[in-house]
Amino acid sequence: MASPSLLKSSPVLDKSEFVKGQTLLRQPNSASARCIPNAAPSSLSIRASSYADELVKTAKTIASPGRGILAMDESNATCGKRLASIGLENTEANRQAYRTLLVTAPGLGQYISGAILFEETLYQSTIDGKKMVDVLVEQNIVPGIKVDKVNRIPYFYLNSGLCQLNWRTVVSIPNGPSALAVKEAAWGLARYAAISQDNGLVPIVEPEILLDGEHSIDRTFEVAQKVWAEVFFYLAENNVTFEGILLKPSMVTPGAESKDKATPEQVADYTLKLLRRRIPPAVPGIMFLSGGQSEVEATLNLNAMNQAPNPWHVSFSYARALQNTCLKTWGGLPENVKAAQETLLIRAKANSLAQLGKYTAEGESEEAKKGMFVKGYSY
Ligand code: 13P
Repeated sequence: MASPSLLKSSPVLDKSEFVKGQTLLRQPNSASARCIPNAAPSSLSIRASSYADELVKTAKTIASPGRGILAMDESNATCGKRLASIGLENTEANRQAYRTLLVTAPGLGQYISGAILFEETLYQSTIDGKKMVDVLVEQNIVPGIKVDKVNRIPYFYLNSGLCQLNWRTVVSIPNGPSALAVKEAAWGLARYAAISQDNGLVPIVEPEILLDGEHSIDRTFEVAQKVWAEVFFYLAENNVTFEGILLKPSMVTPGAESKDKATPEQVADYTLKLLRRRIPPAVPGIMFLSGGQSEVEATLNLNAMNQAPNPWHVSFSYARALQNTCLKTWGGLPENVKAAQETLLIRAKANSLAQLGKYTAEGESEEAKKGMFVKGYSY
């Protein structure tokens, strides 16, 4: 990877053309300054290049060996479905209790480098009255939120304690996808990534090709090649610094309703072929979503991709595949919190081992092997 000093003078670090010439006010105690200890105070007039070092360091911190992201960014409606599955009402107090359980799991930061929150959690305290974001930072976990659901531009979050922002765009294979739909998805992701970087926040770029459909793994591969080509074309057009982003794609698998099932080795072969063809090695981390795979399946697939060294950190940003058995173990009962946290740590450790290519599925529970695909699922 190029050194930060080379990056600073690189022409691709010019501020995104859309905001060139604008002067943005920024407080010295800004979010990005808190992401990296001892960051120099920023001047009032900023350009993307002022944040290049911080962006690269934050992205690298998240993409550190044996660690990945806990996605806990379910919108209130989706969180409600999760709570309903264990017989709980969708109240703020129940969402708070569940998220408190997740962020306070002892030692979580050993396996988890970043957490993606929903906006409600950003401003929420744990049941003991500590800010959730502060608990994450104490656990050595970089906090971020999803922004595709809350319609806020990234600089709204400058002083919120966040260091990364996640934007998800979905692509449906059974619905086409048309060339125009792919272009639109890619352009939107690239604009958001440029604006995030201009404001010192690491964008997590998430072009999610949905599992829905009966198509073959070859068809997924074909669509993914088009989507990722467009995404990286527009990221480059928007002067996005590749060293300061994280990619969060889906793995290349057959459609969830296909009669064919792929082995972890087949998923790894197709997905790595796609990564090599489309993702520049400058990108520090590829953090896969689980998309409805079972917990064990998602871990096995990740493990298969890490059997030989890769130019990028190939890791996880799972929601369902980290939380499912934890949620079931909790069941909404305070006396189960400890056991549920242990279950979360088991999954986090399993995926940490998979990131290092050292996981075996020995001793995994039946619950962890259950698929979680839901047709037409939305976050
Ligand atoms: P899943 O791992 O459940 O697909 O969720 C990942 C995600 O995109 C949430 O932001």
